[in-house]
Amino acid sequence: MKDKEKKAPIGGLGAIKTKVGIIGAGPAGLTLALMLQKQGIQSIIIENRSREYVENRVRAGLLEHNTVEVFEELGVADRLHKEGLVHHGCYIAYNGVIQRIDFQKHTQREVTIYGQQEVVKDLIQACIDRNIEILFEAEATEINDFMTGEPSISFTHLGENKVLNCDFVAGTDGFHGLGRKTLPKETYNEFKIEYPFSWLGILAHSKPNYDELIYAYHNEGFALASMRSEKVCRLYLQVPNDEKIENWTDEKIWAELENRLGIELDKGDIFEKSITPMRSFMIDNLQAGRLFLAGDAGHIVPPTGAKGLNLAVADVRNLAKGVTEFYKNGSDELLKSYSEKCVARVWRVQDFSNFMTYFCHKQAENGSFEQLLQKSKFDYLRISEAYQKTIAENYVGLPFDVF
Ligand code: FAD
Ligand code: DHB
Repeated sequence: MKDKEKKAPIGGLGAIKTKVGIIGAGPAGLTLALMLQKQGIQSIIIENRSREYVENRVRAGLLEHNTVEVFEELGVADRLHKEGLVHHGCYIAYNGVIQRIDFQKHTQREVTIYGQQEVVKDLIQACIDRNIEILFEAEATEINDFMTGEPSISFTHLGENKVLNCDFVAGTDGFHGLGRKTLPKETYNEFKIEYPFSWLGILAHSKPNYDELIYAYHNEGFALASMRSEKVCRLYLQVPNDEKIENWTDEKIWAELENRLGIELDKGDIFEKSITPMRSFMIDNLQAGRLFLAGDAGHIVPPTGAKGLNLAVADVRNLAKGVTEFYKNGSDELLKSYSEKCVARVWRVQDFSNFMTYFCHKQAENGSFEQLLQKSKFDYLRISEAYQKTIAENYVGLPFDVF
């Protein structure tokens, strides 16, 4: 056991105190803690998984321009700039006919490919270097008194029941977390779509022989070619929701990817394989009293627009601003408008992610009205700079303060 973990809790009797109690050490919670620390505001993060687990959880890979700027401002972007891959465009293909979307021309912005595991490693290291306490393998079990000025979080850590007293609680604990379950039901409306398909995602020790991401509609289903480095590819296939990973041998995966993407791939060793369902989910209120939700705790977008992680960062940027204003100027004006500001951006991102999902996935029979409408959108994309620009500006991320 490390020295830090053996320390008796400050305050005795299992109670500790901080300004902001953060539940969850995902991108949202870690970024929030670093933003607050930069303003001299103390926080403690409670995370139910181990450090090793959260640092190795395979998820997103694409950072908006905005997100990279946030990490630069926090001084956590050195490795990202060294190892991340900057992309100035992407391809959208329809049954082998390919159209490039030029981000540089349409937005003067770009995106960076850098795995979420790497982001999380960098953020955790920065938290530790800056003396931000993260309690790993600590499960938040209850959020108490959040309608008062003295909320607290009950949690278990190292087999003991403990309490974290704080001024604010940030529920950055993901889709299955405690934060949203605790938010009073009468304060929000819930919206969701469960899509009739999932993504089979792989990581492979292969050289990407494509220079930018390819989003490909195909009569057999959607495929996405992404990457993590010059030597690692990240690739996805649309599969039915009830698909079993055991049905997909490596040979079958490579054959299907080559067929749908219409290119030859470097078929290296596949070292990660998993199936993720696709859903759109959101609630239209993210706060009650001193409890604030951010990131996947409040909304899920289907991954086709690559927005989940980026939206989490946009939320906590607003939350950190509100909390900072509260401590610096004694005003709760920004906190009061936190939810409204975040939800406006969430709707925009929901629309874009839903659009990209319906645009790129196989849904209807060939020759049906729906499929021909879908193809017509692609034909329009081929000739319309305006349509390309709309996709580009949403994809690279609209500036923070317009939404
Ligand atoms: P999370 O990363 O989920 O972090 C929440 C943290 O809270 C977790 O570490 C969890 O262990 C912890 N926690 C939960 N409950 C408790 C509790 N009671 N007590 C203490 N800790 C708790 N986005 C994309 O853009 N592209 C993708 O390809 C993509 N793929 C994805 C694949 C999967 C399988 C999943 C689940 C998500 C994917 N996403 C993708 C979405 C993206 O990864 C998320 O939007 C992003 O992780 C959101 O960050 P977050 O910090 O809000 O939540
Ligand atoms: C990746 C994931 C996405 O959902 C996406 O739209 C683009 C890239 C990725 O994992 O690299």
